[in-house]
Amino acid sequence: MRKEDLKTAFDLASELLDHEEKSPVRPYIEPDELASQLDLTLGTEGQAMAPLLATLRQLWDATPRIASRRFFNQLFAGRDAVATLAEIMSVLANTPMHTFKAAGAQVLVEREVLAHMAALVGFTDGEGMFTAGGSLSNLTAMILARNEALPDVRNQGLTSAAGRCLVYTSAEGHFSISRALGITGLGRHNARKVPIDGCGRMDVAALARMIEADRNEGATPLMINATAGTTVLGAFDPLRELASVASEHGLWLHVDGAYGGSVLLSRQHRHHLDGCELADSFSWDAHKAQGVPLSCSVLLVRRRGLLEKHFGEEAEYLFQTHSDYNPAQRSMQCARRNDALKLWAAWKHHGDAGYARRIDRLFALAGRAAEQVTADPELLLCDLQRSQPPASFNVCFSVAGCSSVEICEQLERESRLVVSHVRVGGRRWIRLVCIHPDLTEADLDIFFREVKTVARAITGAPQGSHP
Ligand SMILES: Cc1ncc(COP(=O)(O)O)c(C=O)c1O
Repeated sequence: MRKEDLKTAFDLASELLDHEEKSPVRPYIEPDELASQLDLTLGTEGQAMAPLLATLRQLWDATPRIASRRFFNQLFAGRDAVATLAEIMSVLANTPMHTFKAAGAQVLVEREVLAHMAALVGFTDGEGMFTAGGSLSNLTAMILARNEALPDVRNQGLTSAAGRCLVYTSAEGHFSISRALGITGLGRHNARKVPIDGCGRMDVAALARMIEADRNEGATPLMINATAGTTVLGAFDPLRELASVASEHGLWLHVDGAYGGSVLLSRQHRHHLDGCELADSFSWDAHKAQGVPLSCSVLLVRRRGLLEKHFGEEAEYLFQTHSDYNPAQRSMQCARRNDALKLWAAWKHHGDAGYARRIDRLFALAGRAAEQVTADPELLLCDLQRSQPPASFNVCFSVAGCSSVEICEQLERESRLVVSHVRVGGRRWIRLVCIHPDLTEADLDIFFREVKTVARAITGAPQGSHP
C-alpha cells in the first residue's frame, strides 16, 4: 500500500461519514432488488479503482448505519473516535497476536487490558484471552469447565464414561450456550433451562431443585451459566447466590457478562454483579457498552495457568522466543487479529471514570425511557420490567392495540429508525436499547414519537386498550 492509496482511503472514509450524517437510516430495499442493482460479481479481470470506489459508495449506502443515533436494534452502537483510530493502526500494522516475536509491544498492550479487566471482576490471580466475540468467550468457558470436570477429555476425547453432563442456564440465557454444548460434544439436549423470576433473573431455588433431581436421576451437573445482562431484558442473575449453589454442588460457575460486564466500571451499578469474583470464568464484550469496534471480547478466568493447561501446544516452528509472552499458548487461535489496541486506546482516553459516567448516563436514559412508557397511556411496559426501574440498558414495551412486529418492520421500511422486537412471556415487545454513547433525551423523544406515529398509521386509531 502506498501513501497515495491511504489518502484515497481516508478521502473516501470522510465522504462516507458525511453521507451517514445526511442519511442516518439506510434506504429500505428488499434483498433481491438490491442484488439486481449492485455489481458484485467477481471476474477474471481486475477492476480499475474509479468504478470500484463507485461500487463501494453504493455498498455503504445500502449498509445499515450501526453508528447512527437512529439504530436501536443491537446491543452495540456508535463509533468511538479513539478506538476507531487505533483500529486503523491495527489494520495497517496487521499484527498477528500469537507471539512476542511477531507482535512485540502489542502483547504488552493486550496483557495490560486483560489484567485491568480481571482486576475489575475481582480475579486477583486471574488471566484472560481475547476471542472473536461473546459467543466464543462462552464456548471457551464451556471447554474449560468440561476439561476440568472430565480430566482425560483433552487427550482422549469424550467417552461414554462421562455420562450425561448438564449445563444450567436461565430461560433468558443467550443461544450461544446451546450452540457451545453442541460444539463441545456435551450435546445441545443437555442444556437445562432454569425458570426466571418476576424480573427476568434466574430462579435460584428452582436451579437448586433441578440439580438435585438431575443428580438423583444419574446425570452429571457440570456448569452453571449465569447471565449478567440478558440479551432481551438486560437482567442480571443473582451471582452471589448462584456461586453458593455452584460451590455446594462442585459445579463450574461461568458468568456471561458479554452484555453487562462493563457495568463493573460503575460504582453506582456494579452491585448488579455482586459476587462475580466467585465465578470460575467471565465473558465480557467491550464492543457492546464500551463502544469499541467489533469485535472485542475477552474471556477471563479466576485461576492463572488454566488457559495454558487447556490450550497450550508445542510448535517449535512458531514459538521460538519469549515463552512467557506468546499469547497463542493461552488462546483458541493461532494468528489472531489485534483486538486489544483499540480497547486499550479508548480506555486510556476515557479512563475508568469516563466509562463509569457513560454507564451511569445510559442507565439513567433507560430509566427515563421506562418512565416515559409508564406515563404514556398509549404504551405498555413489559411486565418483567415493571416492578422497579429496569436495572438494564434495555426497555421492552408495546403500543396499545398494535403489533410490535408490524411497528418494527414499518419503522425500517420508512427508514425512520431501526429497532427489534422480542418475545417475553409469550408476547411480543419492542426492545429499545439505550447503548449509543452519544444518545440524548431528545433522541429518546424522537424514538417514541416515531414509534407512535407509525403505530397510529397502522391502526388508524391513536388510543386503545392493550390487546
Ligand atoms: C448475554 C449475551 N451473551 C453472548 C452474546 C454473544 O455475543 P457476540 O455477538 O459477541 O458473539 C450476546 C450477544 O448479544 C449476549 O447478549
